[in-house]
Amino acid sequence: IERTFSMIKPDATARNLTGKIVAKLEDAGLRVVASKRIHMSLAQAEAFYAVHKGRPFYEELTKQMSAGPVVVQVLEGENAILKNREVMGATNPANAAEGTIRKEFALSIGENSAHGSDAPETAAEEIAFWFSKTEIVG
Ligand code: GTP
Ligand code: MG
Repeated sequence: IERTFSMIKPDATARNLTGKIVAKLEDAGLRVVASKRIHMSLAQAEAFYAVHKGRPFYEELTKQMSAGPVVVQVLEGENAILKNREVMGATNPANAAEGTIRKEFALSIGENSAHGSDAPETAAEEIAFWFSKTEIVG
């Protein structure tokens, strides 16, 4: 059984889509084993997205991610990392498959409603960035 990190982005919380997004994840067989709603600072967004530092979209991304509340979550399930990314769909909603979170809800490549870890190493790092061990209840 695998764990991954998931985040519902400010564009989605602003439109009251948290429940609809969680339902899609649960319908795919993923279980929410930790969850909290936070409003991250710009400094936290810059640290969380440090891997993208230097990319042309870094400033816009960190500004957007700190512009409103997000829901950070830990998801558990068989192949959770890949499954979460399948349910999210392609980064750019224009390329996202029918039925995916980004196809249904994303506004643009930047305001694309959800984040999900892309590999076991980043999943472990991102979970540890937002959650202590006692906050995760499987
Ligand atoms: P995440 O799950 O959020 O990591 O998405 P991803 O793995 O599909 O995309 P990636 O890690 O390449 O980029 C991280 C985030 O940066 C994306 O989710 C987008 O919101 C944003 N991003 C990526 N490319 C662009 C871009 O060209 N323009 C803008 N404005 N944002 C981008
Ligand atoms: Mg990514």
